[in-house]
Amino acid sequence: MARTLLLAFALFFNHAYAMIQLKDFYPYGLKNGDRNQTRRNDDQFDGPLKLKVPYPFFSGVYQSLYVNTNGAVSFKKGIRQYTPEAFPLNDTMLTPFWADVDTRNWGQIYFRETQDPALLLRASKEIQDIFLTHMDFTARSLYITTWYDVTYYGGNNATSVYDF
Ligand SMILES: *[C@@H]1O[C@H](CO)[C@@H](O)[C@H](O)[C@H]1NC(C)=O
Ligand SMILES: *[C@@H]1O[C@H](CO)[C@@H](O)[C@H](O)[C@H]1NC(C)=O
Ligand SMILES: *[C@@H]1O[C@H](CO)[C@@H](O)[C@H](O)[C@H]1NC(C)=O
Repeated sequence: MARTLLLAFALFFNHAYAMIQLKDFYPYGLKNGDRNQTRRNDDQFDGPLKLKVPYPFFSGVYQSLYVNTNGAVSFKKGIRQYTPEAFPLNDTMLTPFWADVDTRNWGQIYFRETQDPALLLRASKEIQDIFLTHMDFTARSLYITTWYDVTYYGGNNATSVYDF
């Protein structure tokens, strides 16, 4: 199979059947070289964020992406919509957990592109393990986006949080 960029929610796919512990996330946070969101917000996004390795996704090849507060990564524009929709979607996006996230009071959103060899190997193996027709898949770049301890619309440091 062609070598292609892995825009990774690999972890998400690999463990979709079970709850993932924070310790099993791809390394995240400022200490691992992530950026955090530019400003605390509701229904906003960061981007366009330039990619080192362009990302082929359906009919397009994208040079940048948007990290949206409401739990999605998109390619053509930022997404402010807070209610998820069923497929097929109008917008070009990956939606690990599209919901009404609000970071004005609490929670963080971290992101980075990495070519760390150990992480590329880990991601490649996860894809190979799951997609049996892609057993020679090799990731060239990894974009890690982490919604850390985020809460829902109007939430604060006392409301429930989730990580993905
Ligand atoms: C990003 O992290 C820095 C360092 O911890 C912090 O000072 C800043 O407030 C954070 N930005 C947002 C928008 O949370
Ligand atoms: C998606 O596109 C269709 C066709 O243009 C439009 O009718 C619909 O309102 C759009 N949905 C959203 C949520 O933008
Ligand atoms: C949580 O928010 C309350 C009210 O704004 C504040 O007094 C308290 O210090 C906060 N706690 C933490 C751990 O940030």
